[in-house]
Amino acid sequence: MRLGFLGTGTIASAVVRALAGQGHQITVSQRSAHHAKALAAELPEVEIGSNDQVVAASDVIFLGLLATDAPDILSCLSFRADQSVISFIAGLPLDDVAALVAPASAPALMLPYPGIAKGGSPILALGDTALLDALFTPANRIFALTTQAQLQAYLCAQAVLSPAAQMVDAASDWLDDGARGEEFLRLLVATSLAAQPAQDLITALNTEGGYNQRLRLHMERAGMVGALRDGLEDLA
Ligand SMILES: NC(=O)c1ccc[n+]([C@@H]2O[C@H](COP(=O)([O-])OP(=O)(O)OC[C@H]3O[C@@H](n4cnc5c(N)ncnc54)[C@H](OP(=O)(O)O)[C@@H]3O)[C@@H](O)[C@H]2O)c1
Repeated sequence: MRLGFLGTGTIASAVVRALAGQGHQITVSQRSAHHAKALAAELPEVEIGSNDQVVAASDVIFLGLLATDAPDILSCLSFRADQSVISFIAGLPLDDVAALVAPASAPALMLPYPGIAKGGSPILALGDTALLDALFTPANRIFALTTQAQLQAYLCAQAVLSPAAQMVDAASDWLDDGARGEEFLRLLVATSLAAQPAQDLITALNTEGGYNQRLRLHMERAGMVGALRDGLEDLA
């Protein structure tokens, strides 16, 4: 496919890397210049262009822009009816994107994570996911949502990632064995949670008086679960 990216920032760069090596022709916009140059240097199928050139050269256009910038940028561009636009912009409802890119269609909103670059990553999606399925599965997994309210709830719940990462970081600091200790903890947490539901893992780790049970009970008494729920309510 001929794929284009408007806004070559953190997440667009990860998605370009996810799509590399599959025979696509990819045009990325020149901003951010350092990301665009790195992608073009690394991947033979990537070319850099102005926003107009990205739109002219592509059948599918991904929006990696900030919600605050997107309306002004998109309203200056001329899309065609045979184009599809996939937005990464959580803060801009799909109907608004559709109005801004008409007569192109805007079938889906897609919220990828940086891990998509290496595959095996979850992707939140709203709308018609047929194109996303064709481009990103089975290397990644799409979680298709049906309403904006559902998307809002997932956006809140997914924020557990940052405190979870901070816990691993703090345990690694305490362990004080540098990169090896951190890698061990990351692999332990990632593979254990990938393998089974969280409640099953908690049960499996609930040996009476064991290290896992004692630390979990300590954290619960310190208010960990309540603080998380309060934080989620606050976000919602
Ligand atoms: N990061 C994530 O994990 C993630 C995940 C899912 C969805 N998203 C969404 O994806 C969008 C991008 O996020 P991000 O983290 O990738 O942000 P980012 O790195 O700041 O990317 C935004 C990009 O827009 C570019 N830009 C600004 N003005 C432009 C213009 N006139 N024409 C073309 N490009 C322009 C910026 O270039 P300059 O650097 O030159 O200003 C930058 O490369 C956001 O809406 C975010 O909510 C992000």
